[in-house]
Amino acid sequence: MAEEFKPPVTVAITGASGAQYGLRLIDVLVQAGHEVWVMVSKAALLVIATETDDDLPPRPDHQAEVLSRRFSAAPGQIRCFAREDWMAPVASGSGASSAMVICPCSTGTLSAVACGASNNLIERAADVALKERRTLILVPRETPLSAIHLENMLKLTQMGAVILPAAPGFYHRPASIDQLVDFIVARILNQLGIEQRLLPRWGDDTPA
Ligand SMILES: Cc1cc2nc3c(=O)[nH]c(=O)nc-3n(C[C@H](O)[C@H](O)[C@H](O)COP(=O)(O)O)c2cc1C
Repeated sequence: MAEEFKPPVTVAITGASGAQYGLRLIDVLVQAGHEVWVMVSKAALLVIATETDDDLPPRPDHQAEVLSRRFSAAPGQIRCFAREDWMAPVASGSGASSAMVICPCSTGTLSAVACGASNNLIERAADVALKERRTLILVPRETPLSAIHLENMLKLTQMGAVILPAAPGFYHRPASIDQLVDFIVARILNQLGIEQRLLPRWGDDTPA
C-alpha cells in the first residue's frame, strides 16, 4: 500500500541566490511528513552548482532520486516536475490542491508571475495558485530593488500572494549560516501554518 503523507507542498527553486533556502525548506517539509512537489528552473541548477556542494541533475526523475537520498525521504514523498510537464497536478486548477512556495524567487520569475506569463510549469503553477486563491509565497532575493521589482511585488501582494523576502533577522544572534537559512525557512513554515521548531516565536521564551 502507498505511504500516506501530509498534504503536498509545492516548492519551486528559481535562479536567485539562496538555493539553500529552498533546499532546506524541502528537507524540513520532508521531515514533517509532507509530500513535496519540486520544480527547479534551469538557472536554479546553475545557482545550486555555484553556491552549494550539491549538483542537481537536469532530469526530474534523477532530481527526485538525489533529493530523496539527501533528505532520507520515503519512496514517492518527493516528486519533481519538468519545465514543460503540463500534465503535472500543479498545471491545472482541477489538479490536487497544494500551497506553493517559490524559494528563492528570481526577479525574472517574480515578473512572469505578476503578469501571468505561464511560460513554464513554475509560472503556470503560480498562475493557478493565484486564480484558485491558494497560498502562494514568493521569496525574492535581490538588492537594491528597482521600481519594476517593487511594482511586481505590490501587484502580487494585492492579489493575495505573500512576499517574504530572503532577509533574515539577526535578533536571535545567529552563529552560523544554517541558522540564518533556518530563520527564513521558519518564517515560510509559519505562513504555511506548519508547526516549526527552527526559531522561537516572538514573545515565546521556550527555547526551540
Ligand atoms: C550565480 C547566480 C546568481 C544569481 N543571483 C540572482 C539573484 O540573487 N536574484 C535574481 O533575481 N537573479 C539572480 N540571478 C539571475 C537569474 O538566475 C536570471 O535572471 C534567470 O533568468 C532567472 O531565471 P528563472 O527565474 O527561470 O530561474 C543569478 C544568476 C546566477 C547564475
